[in-house]
Amino acid sequence: MCGIVGYVGQKNATPIVLNGLKRLEYRGYDSAGIAVLNNGAIERRRDVGKLENLERRLADEPISGAIGIGHTRWATHGQPSERNAHPHLSNDGQFVVVHNGIVENYLELRELLRAQGVRFESETDTEVIVHLIAQLVAQGHDLTEATRRACLQLRGAHAIVVMSARYPDRLVAVRIGNAGGVALGIGQGEMYIASDIPAILEYTRQLVFLESRQLATVTANGYSVQTLSGEPVDAAIHQIAWDPVSAARGEYRHFMQKEIFEQGRSLTDTIRGRISFEDGRVTLSDLPLSADEARRLKRIVTVACGTSAYAGLVGKFMLEALARIPVEVDYGSEYRYRDPILDGDCAVLAITQSGETVDTLAAMEEAREKGARLWSIVNVIGSQAMRIADGYITMQAGPEIGVASTKAFTASLVDQYLLALYLGQLRGTLSAEQARQHAQDIARLPDLVGHVLDRAAEVEALAKKLRDYQNFLYLGRGINYPIALEGALKLKEISYIHAEGYPAGEMKHGPIALIDEKMPVLAIAIQDSVYEKMISQIEQAKARRGIVIAVATEGDTFIQSKADHVLYVPKLPPLLSPVVTVIPLQLLAYYVAVERGADVDQPRNLAKSVTVE
Ligand code: G6P
Repeated sequence: MCGIVGYVGQKNATPIVLNGLKRLEYRGYDSAGIAVLNNGAIERRRDVGKLENLERRLADEPISGAIGIGHTRWATHGQPSERNAHPHLSNDGQFVVVHNGIVENYLELRELLRAQGVRFESETDTEVIVHLIAQLVAQGHDLTEATRRACLQLRGAHAIVVMSARYPDRLVAVRIGNAGGVALGIGQGEMYIASDIPAILEYTRQLVFLESRQLATVTANGYSVQTLSGEPVDAAIHQIAWDPVSAARGEYRHFMQKEIFEQGRSLTDTIRGRISFEDGRVTLSDLPLSADEARRLKRIVTVACGTSAYAGLVGKFMLEALARIPVEVDYGSEYRYRDPILDGDCAVLAITQSGETVDTLAAMEEAREKGARLWSIVNVIGSQAMRIADGYITMQAGPEIGVASTKAFTASLVDQYLLALYLGQLRGTLSAEQARQHAQDIARLPDLVGHVLDRAAEVEALAKKLRDYQNFLYLGRGINYPIALEGALKLKEISYIHAEGYPAGEMKHGPIALIDEKMPVLAIAIQDSVYEKMISQIEQAKARRGIVIAVATEGDTFIQSKADHVLYVPKLPPLLSPVVTVIPLQLLAYYVAVERGADVDQPRNLAKSVTVE
């Protein structure tokens, strides 16, 4: 995962920035770099691999200066190489930038800049940012204004820090969407910037967090914040407590809340380095497979428990549609007891956040004995499910502390989408053009997830109205049926309200008997091929005086006349829609649980990883 650190003050920035990057090592990275300003010139050192390599390089070729920025990178565009490592420089060497996120329109911007004579040194999307800023300063704007104007040209979600030899007293930091946070640390005659607060907590506990579409100009003696539209912001200062748990929670009240809001960033990390936005090619280096082996695959069996099992049900739609392989999904605890039929042309895919869930591991052992190919999707690196598999994909979601899984769920959906594209490419079920289109759709996810999170206050207000109901029914169809199951699971896990997920078409075969004015019905009714059917289910629920909450596509005003409350999500191709439809349901469960005073992060009777049968 990418990390950003910045410093401006009186001390030497190099060790402070390097130290900050070390604190972010646990996030993983493939290269790192630092730039400082020394006597009016930008000096930069970068290296691939571990931070030690950069440290060694700095020992041999030291740089020092009272202002500097650093970055650890996980490749998205271009291979991990020194050339692609951040910080990136402008052609005149006067500007330097570090960045987290994906510039969705970088191909376009790069062509435009090239046509104007800009020379590109890397294959990264980030490089367009520094060239845009250099151009805008050349046109007469100051650093802050140039950065603001450059940002208005970027699509996607970003965290950016800019330094310039022309403005040696300041750094400019920007946050757009949820590609990671930007925290400003306040010191005495010095200021810090970090994507993650552990990077700077040893220097200061007074932090300012940028909101989406805010930009800060930071000097040794202070900072000023404005919005991307140029209005000044009076940003609140947070005092972070000293105990390690509060420190890790940062600005959030609960880990679950933090993890829900981290999803723009965690998905950026899930996507990183795995798909080329130029030709759509997917690379899963830890899941080796020849085209021949992929073509021979007859079946995939997904085994998982809890939230991960629901992720598997969503993945079935993705794998079948894109790779044209039949998929069955079973609970780990059931699979092992049904003497399953498997052979070498089957792949068993275990999905497990912790990688240690005993039932899922037992199902994997069963598959191993029967000679199937064994794959896993895990979040915890080095876990058992990763070690015993023939191939694995990591979720890259970062540590998940809240017992109710949120960011690992969305990461495992994206992993399965990448797996489906990978298999589709190997099996020849996807054309080059289709692959490119899928890559573009994936690139939009972090930003769109950010849009849903920006509307969290609406869900919070709704939670206040719904907190006292005792039963909920969640309805969905097709690929969003498993999202109904997951939404109901989230609510029952943390708020202890009884909730059931149902395929909407089945409502008339039983659950409809339960509907009355005491039963909120949550219907996922986005504009897809089953939209009309969902509307008719909503009408049936309304006819029985149920309270209907619809999750609907942005711009669908018609549904307001049918449902009591509408939670909007952005439009996406149906196969990717679950990544956004689940978010309002996570938020609803969270806010209802908070309203009811429940212990959100450690709900009663539940454990983060269930290692007993
Ligand atoms: C426990 C957790 C759930 C989780 C399930 C599977 O029940 O409380 O949140 O979904 O285990 O965990 P895994 O680590 O295998 O994904």
